[in-house]
Amino acid sequence: MANYDVIIIGGGPGGYVCAIRCAQLGLKTACVEGRGALGGTCLNVGCMPSKALLHASHQLHEAETNFAKMGLKGKSPSVDWKQMLAYKDEVVETNTKGIEFLFKKNKVDWIQGWGTIPEAGKVKVGDDIHEAKNIIVATGSESASLPGVEVDEKIVVTSTGALTLNKVPKKLVVIGAGVIGLELGSVYARLGAEVTVIEFLDVITPGMDSEVQKTFQRILKKQGLTFIMGAAVQKTEATKTKAKVTYKLRKDDSEQVIDADAVLVATGRKPYTDGLGLDALGVEMSPRGQVKVGKDWQTNVKGIYAIGDVIDGPMLAHKAEDEGMAVAEQVAGRHGHVNYGVIPGVIYTAPEVANVGETEEGLKDQGRNYKVGKFSFMGNGRAKANFAADGFVKILADKDTDRILGAHIIGPSAGDLIHEICVAMEFGASAEDLALTCHAHPTYSEAVREAALACGDGPIHS
Ligand code: NAI
Repeated sequence: MANYDVIIIGGGPGGYVCAIRCAQLGLKTACVEGRGALGGTCLNVGCMPSKALLHASHQLHEAETNFAKMGLKGKSPSVDWKQMLAYKDEVVETNTKGIEFLFKKNKVDWIQGWGTIPEAGKVKVGDDIHEAKNIIVATGSESASLPGVEVDEKIVVTSTGALTLNKVPKKLVVIGAGVIGLELGSVYARLGAEVTVIEFLDVITPGMDSEVQKTFQRILKKQGLTFIMGAAVQKTEATKTKAKVTYKLRKDDSEQVIDADAVLVATGRKPYTDGLGLDALGVEMSPRGQVKVGKDWQTNVKGIYAIGDVIDGPMLAHKAEDEGMAVAEQVAGRHGHVNYGVIPGVIYTAPEVANVGETEEGLKDQGRNYKVGKFSFMGNGRAKANFAADGFVKILADKDTDRILGAHIIGPSAGDLIHEICVAMEFGASAEDLALTCHAHPTYSEAVREAALACGDGPIHS
């Protein structure tokens, strides 16, 4: 039992980053986490393990499809699933242990256990009550449930169970063509599964630029994923080894059934606030179960703040991290700020998909005068050399001022390329500013410059 300036509940990317920044700002800080390892969903059962599997399966895909073309002959590697899972577990352990090290280095106390807030200024963990001037709720999110679908994490799984399947399924049905469904769907497709994605809407990755949606779906189909669009899953029935998925097609209301060896439910996530005691404290919540906060991330109860997936906005680790740093500044009596207009989104498939800022559809709705600069990776020498020329960079800029309003990239390293545009947007740059910046040759980033050139007098290589 101790007195703290700040106690953060939740050790995910929002919580642990916030804790480190609080300590760096001279605040006596503790972080409550009951999972047994720091890092939250992202490091333990989300971003990091899925990226390990994406990386490994992409290497296999490269070996199968491109090695021979480059004069690399020999038997393609085969999948040792146990070893791949061990590699993934090692990635998780190295990263979570890394956070433990950072806590020690920055003198953040890790209080192990699940926290509740009996009253403002107090956090209870087990039988211990700790005092804190400021409490920050960073408890993240959990998979949303789907009526009629019972998750057993063995045959019918969420993203968590999908990372520990006991074998690569012959037939995988994915419910939901969002980020999780497509990332994990492509992992299993590359490992040899027959993957069918059932999506309620007529488009994949709702909310994304529509040209990207179409190109992305075309590429995924080429990679072997099958899509059933405009279909609402009604129920799943699972035995110990198999499952049946029943869905209804919107176009004719007909009910169809598909067999699977495993089913991944990826229909969204919801804020996780169970057991915190927020109701009893009178903390205001939105109808969607999100904690309501003001501009300083403080709830209606003084001294209780919330960040990350439990509040409004995209459920992204880096959005939570930014809020974590900003709220730390805030409680330290400084000024914290998050520019919600410049938060990139990335889907780590191959090719990657990345976006920031406005979509063309959004600008049309707002009646904004905009222009589009687009450049295909077919015109990028490096991409062609690396068999990665599928995709494009699209920059949206204000027609009158040339200010960059958004960007959408589908192609190699899109998740890294997007940041040059994020920085430009933070500086209020015009497309011409990007176009006039020298880009090293030969790099994928030249495609970004060419798209910026396309907003003006035109690209060179198309
Ligand atoms: P999502 O919201 O991205 O996609 C869910 C999809 O399921 C939607 O397309 C929706 O129309 C569809 N759907 C809903 N009900 C359905 C039904 N009954 N039948 C068929 N389709 C149905 O959710 P997802 O993929 O589960 O991801 C959850 C959150 O995690 C998102 O906020 C995402 O941004 C985040 N995330 C981000 C990652 C990244 O940044 N790379 C990786 C993984 C997750």
